[in-house]
Amino acid sequence: MQASVAVIGAGYVGLTTAVCLAHMGHSVTCGDIDEKRVTQLSKGDVPIFEKGLDEMVKEGLSSGRLRFVAGASRAAKRAEYVFLCVPTPRMPSGMPDMSVISSVAREIAPVLRSRTVVVNKSTVPAGSALMVERMIGRSDVKVVSNPEFLREGTAVSDFLHPDRIVIGSDDEQSAVRVSSLFAGISAPIMITDAMTAETVKYVANAFLATKISFANSVAELCEALGVEVKDVLLGIAYDHRIGFEYLSPGPGWGGSCLPKDTRALLSFSSASGYDMELLEAAVRANEEHEAWIARKALSMLGVSDDYRKDGLVVAVCGVSFKAGTDDTRDSPALAFLTTLAEKGMSLRVFDPALRNVAGGLPEGTVVCDDPYSACSGADLLCIMTEWEEFRWMDFSKVMDVMVTPKILDARNLLDPIVIRKLGFAYEGVGRR
Ligand code: UGA
Repeated sequence: MQASVAVIGAGYVGLTTAVCLAHMGHSVTCGDIDEKRVTQLSKGDVPIFEKGLDEMVKEGLSSGRLRFVAGASRAAKRAEYVFLCVPTPRMPSGMPDMSVISSVAREIAPVLRSRTVVVNKSTVPAGSALMVERMIGRSDVKVVSNPEFLREGTAVSDFLHPDRIVIGSDDEQSAVRVSSLFAGISAPIMITDAMTAETVKYVANAFLATKISFANSVAELCEALGVEVKDVLLGIAYDHRIGFEYLSPGPGWGGSCLPKDTRALLSFSSASGYDMELLEAAVRANEEHEAWIARKALSMLGVSDDYRKDGLVVAVCGVSFKAGTDDTRDSPALAFLTTLAEKGMSLRVFDPALRNVAGGLPEGTVVCDDPYSACSGADLLCIMTEWEEFRWMDFSKVMDVMVTPKILDARNLLDPIVIRKLGFAYEGVGRR
């Protein structure tokens, strides 16, 4: 069945949804408020760093199944299904800002065809589908929740090969109609009521965040005990009840989703009369772990916690919140750079995907064109993002350009035996 679909929002979720639905044979119109972005996309020029998107946009445009227009109502007016993929950023209270979703709902309400199903993919608190349905205010238009579980960097593959598809609606017929859009995708489809689907999204991200906080705290424990974290975590991961995923210790979890969604869940669970103390602890553990990593760097430089030392040079490889993306929102690397800058360090950074840094780099940071230039004259090299190319750097060359050969590997990317043999002082996260 080929359906006529509108996707509102051409960010990484909207664009991925649009190109994948077009790839699956649907006729898709993607609307965005940003006219410049629409012009760019219409020419096949993708403004987002996301694996596979370039090819998929070109495929959609050349097949005639994908087009881009400016404005939500232009995109929505002929569609049978309208996917809302607009941002819901964090407000100071921790709650998501619903203003964009509300204004889109009001804008499209008068132009929607009868029996259109509005599908909400934006991450919104339980009860939002009902709220959007009331805003649209038409008895012939239903709103369904279909949360996304797309990771930045692998969003296209996550869309086409999901672990599950969750569709929540208080109108079963609309849910079944939405499920038919995914025919051809091999994954369990779970149909629930709307509030359950909305809750699944937050609980999934809260669980992932808690699991990583657990792995990071085990890494700190291993370091205190003098045992190797990789072996300890591997020893538990073989237990299929625990699994291998989301157990890699690092500099802390960041990005545009986990920090925002955990805080939102804490806010609205507490507003509903239940304090999720376990999640609160996971969030606090993440903040403390980020500070622990910064203390480790300072200690390798011989700088004590309550002391400032000017003139030392630190090379930082990786600024994005993880490999495979240029996104620096809530990146642990940015918090790390800020702490080091406050301690008087001169910072030299390299990231293969660095474009616009959310919140900016600390003043005076030198952005380098390659990792060797970042390491030039450095007293310490810190690897903050797990880009594969950092694993395969020529470390003899790194040794030649550094003032003191010291490496803090906040992603446990390197082999400590090889690196120490080359003459580096090496520290990882929870490693011997
Ligand atoms: C996350 C979820 O994984 C997606 O399922 C969800 O759809 C998305 O948020 C969203 O809500 O839109 P993403 O933000 O792309 O996806 O990031 P992840 O790949 O989950 O990584 C989050 C953070 O945890 C990163 O900083 C990453 O480096 C860190 N991490 C992840 C670890 O430190 N260790 C791990 O083992 C895994």
